[in-house]
Amino acid sequence: MRIVMIGTGYVGLVSGACFADFGHEVVCVDKDQSKIDALLNGEIPIFEPGLDELVAKNVAAGRLSFTLDLAEALPGTDAVFIAVGTPSRRGDGHADLSYVYAAAREMAPLLPDGVVVVDKSTVPVGTGDEVERIIREEAPELSFSVASNPEFLREGAAIDDFKRPDRVVIGVNDAHAESVLEEIYRPLTRNESPLVSMSRRGAELTKYAANAFLATKIGFINEIADLCEKVGADVRDVSKGIGLDSRIGNRFLMPGPGYGGSCFPKDTLALLKTGQDYESPLRIVESVVASNDQRKRGMGRKVINALGGGDLHGKTVAVLGLTFKANTDDMRDSPAISVVQALQDAGIEVKAYDPEGMEQAKKVLSNVTYCEGPYEAMDGADALVIVTEWDTFRALDLDRVKGLLKDLIFVDLRNLYSRSDVEGTGFKYIGVGR
Ligand SMILES: NC(=O)c1ccc[n+]([C@@H]2O[C@H](COP(=O)([O-])OP(=O)(O)OC[C@H]3O[C@@H](n4cnc5c(N)ncnc54)[C@H](O)[C@@H]3O)[C@@H](O)[C@H]2O)c1
Repeated sequence: MRIVMIGTGYVGLVSGACFADFGHEVVCVDKDQSKIDALLNGEIPIFEPGLDELVAKNVAAGRLSFTLDLAEALPGTDAVFIAVGTPSRRGDGHADLSYVYAAAREMAPLLPDGVVVVDKSTVPVGTGDEVERIIREEAPELSFSVASNPEFLREGAAIDDFKRPDRVVIGVNDAHAESVLEEIYRPLTRNESPLVSMSRRGAELTKYAANAFLATKIGFINEIADLCEKVGADVRDVSKGIGLDSRIGNRFLMPGPGYGGSCFPKDTLALLKTGQDYESPLRIVESVVASNDQRKRGMGRKVINALGGGDLHGKTVAVLGLTFKANTDDMRDSPAISVVQALQDAGIEVKAYDPEGMEQAKKVLSNVTYCEGPYEAMDGADALVIVTEWDTFRALDLDRVKGLLKDLIFVDLRNLYSRSDVEGTGFKYIGVGR
């Protein structure tokens, strides 16, 4: 199959490279000249484990290429995937669909007959109808289908998720689109990954329902963690005790500083907006969003309280981890942003280190001293706070940490450490829900 991928970000580049690895011929298109230049030079513009090898292998095999030029990419293509951003629209939280609609309008006059336009971006119910209307308006004679194929990959494990998904959801309103998508995903269904076929609107809503449900699980365990702190229980016991119940499942039951990233915050807001538009309130999701917003900032207060509160001007905190989770360089809506800003608002100096996220962090967090490694960040600081669960922070040399910190305050927002180990070295240990 010949496939064109519009947008070579986290989703487009991974999906394009994986489709090429299945044996399809893939052209990735982006508007961002610097991204395409980097890719043409063999550089990967984002950090995603394994992606550099996968891209290099498929470029070398002649199955994967990159261009800025839609007119060069589109002739003869069987399917065009739209994988552009759908950020929150300023003001009302609705998904900003301007990139999706612009892509549809730009491609329409260049599309070959019989093409299937597949929306892979996360888009509200009814977006496929509008994409279809736009293409028909721009190319009235064209025969084409519009399908939905929401993406469920996670940054940091994106290639594995794409190649071994729990399921592939396709939303199709005609048999031609269904057969083209079945053919594209055939290599996966051979691995027994189920292909779940439904209406286009059903697929669009499935993506939001999945993200809202996962966000709810995180929000739920975070509130249970708060209760554990009050009643003297350990949330890790509770997580295990409920997670072993197969009706509940043990994933997404780790408490922490609140969810962030490029998906959950914007997708929960967009789902709420859809609920309002259709007069179908989503009270549970509303509570999850409010709870998470409070939590992110609240984690800054947790560090401030650990420092004893009061006037904290002149104090310094070492922040380990800035990205919204480990194994990505993505800073979008990272809880670290709220934590750092809360500390700075209290007059505290912040020294920070992240293995991959510092370039992105510099664009959103100012007045931070960015360090070369975790120990440099701790040197002379009054407290240490682990915000992101990078593997490299899991086995810090506690004796060395002790020699570097002025006050022995260890705040572990990811519960990476055992209290007895840390307290045994002489620190005051503050975890989450313990
Ligand atoms: N990042 C994730 O983990 C993830 C997971 C599942 C779904 N999604 C969804 O996938 C979509 C893409 O997310 P992302 O994180 O890959 O975004 P991204 O911002 O990393 O990449 C989007 C890319 O699209 C390009 N672009 C925008 N308009 C274009 C146009 N008209 N023509 C060509 N290129 C264009 C941009 O330059 C950018 O490179 C979003 O809807 C997101 O919600 C993301």
